[in-house]
This record gives sequence, C-alpha cells and structure tokens, in this order.
Amino acid sequence: MDSLSVEHLVGIKDLTKKDIELIFKTADAFKEVINRPIKKVPSLRDITIANLFFENSTRTRLSFELAEKRMSADIVNFSAASSSVKKGETLIDTVNNILSMKVDMVVMRHPNPGAAKFLSERVDAKVVNAGDGTHEHPTQALLDSYSVRERLGSVEGKKVVIVGDIIHSRVALSNIYCLQKLGAEVMVCGPTTLIPKYIHELGVKVEYDLKKALEWCDVANMLRIQLERQDIKYFPSLREYSMQYGLTKEMLDNLPKEIVIMHPCPINRGVEITSDVADSEQAIILDQVENGVAVRMAVIYLLASKIKR
Ligand code: CP
Repeated sequence: MDSLSVEHLVGIKDLTKKDIELIFKTADAFKEVINRPIKKVPSLRDITIANLFFENSTRTRLSFELAEKRMSADIVNFSAASSSVKKGETLIDTVNNILSMKVDMVVMRHPNPGAAKFLSERVDAKVVNAGDGTHEHPTQALLDSYSVRERLGSVEGKKVVIVGDIIHSRVALSNIYCLQKLGAEVMVCGPTTLIPKYIHELGVKVEYDLKKALEWCDVANMLRIQLERQDIKYFPSLREYSMQYGLTKEMLDNLPKEIVIMHPCPINRGVEITSDVADSEQAIILDQVENGVAVRMAVIYLLASKIKR
C-alpha cells in the first residue's frame, strides 16, 4: 500500500506532491463512500481519536468528527472552554492525561503557532494539525485544492488569487504551499498592511488592486478579516475595506471570463463578499465543506495505517 512520507500532519510545508496526490486519490474513494445510502465503513474500528479544540471551530471540528465516525473510529471530544485548562493545566499535561486513556491519534486546533509540531515531538500518538494560530491549517488547504481539482479538472497551471487578511491567515499560508506543490500560480491581494513583508520569499505575486487580481486569476479565494487576531487597526473601517476589497456580483459580471469563487468560512457577508456572490453558481463554498469530510477521512486513514501495534 502507498503511504505518506510523514508520521504526522503538522503542515503542508512537510508534504511532497506525491503525498498530496495520494491524499486526493484516497479522498476520491471516501467521497464515493459518503455518498452511498450507508455511509459508514469499518476502516478504523480499532482506532481511538481525541479531538482537542483549544480555539473555536464549527466546520473543522464537525468535519473531523464526521470523518472519524464514518470510518468507525472511537472518538473523544475536548473543548478547552469547558476543561481543566481553565484551572491552569498545561497543554502537555492535558494531552498526556488524555493519551494515558489509550488514544492513538490527536486532532488539535490551538491558538499558538507551532503547537501541533510541539505536540508531535512529545507524544507517541499521531498528530493532525486542525489549525495552529496564524501558522498552518493543512486540511483546509488540502480540501481547497481538492475542490479546485474537482471543479477545474486539475490544479496544475491554474492561477489562484488569495484575497484579504493574508498576514493573520493560516489558510493563506497552507494554500500557498499546497497550490505551489501542485503546480498552480499563486497571487495574494489585499491592503499593504495585511500583506506580510516576507511574502516575496514564498514565490507568490502581490497585487493591491482587486480588479486587476480578478482579471488575472482562474480562482479567487476570499478570506475573512480576522478581527480576533488584530490588536491594532490595519485599515480605517470594515466599510472602507469592503469598498476596496469586497467582491461584488457586478465585479464578476464585468470580467471577460467566469472565475471560481472560494471561501474557507466563516463568511462575513457584505464585508469580503456579497451574499449574491457567495450564493452564486460560481461559488464552490459548500463543495469545499462537503469535500472536507472526504479529505479528512483520507488524512486520518493514511496516518492510522502507520500506527504500530
Ligand atoms: N474553515 C474553518 O477552519 O472553519 P472553522 O473555524 O469553523 O473550523
């Protein structure tokens, strides 16, 4: 059986193109499974997975949980807000206590960049990063590229612009790595204050004019402004941001070609994207969410096959 080159999924940076293609091929098979009347397979019947969420989540948490249940894994769910973390317990103590209950894999979202790597170097269980602060969100990037491949036939050679709050976005960084490994051209677009200074080192194009960026691309991935990570003001107001970087139906209709619209969600309707764009045929936002389950099934299945018994 083909296997991943990594023992944990900490970031897309660590994956090879072959790893990503293997995840997609495996996700294709699982997508077929989850569209059957009986959506459950016994693939992970002997595996126990802990979902540790130290930061809010809707899609990622539910998607991992469904992926695990569809493969018959035993699961335990942990939310920091209702845990003994509130009494001062450290991350490593929390995780080691959970692992002593014979857990094989940990899916973790954490506000600190590097938290997933830190854990992967200290525990025996397989670690899957479900988003670590402003660093990486690898399964989001995998499901995003998988959705581009599904809609456009392949990722190779496609032009993808990521628009918005690049500096605070783990989705942007993971997408840049993933798209480039698959042969896409990547551009970022947003106000200068929301584009990191090191961006050129990543080999991406930079454009500050949304209209020009849209004219260049095949796919536009619209990001939310992450106000919860902004302790200073990066632009005058959301209204002004929206006037310069909000995507409207009129802008799309004025383009010479039809482009694909993506969003990792949650959406702030009327800020980075208007409702008529988000709900249009050009948007693949709900396909991204659907594909998230199949892609996460593939990641968990491939990592679980590396567990030594
Ligand atoms: N896309 C994403 O990570 O959404 P959640 O924060 O709801 O998990």
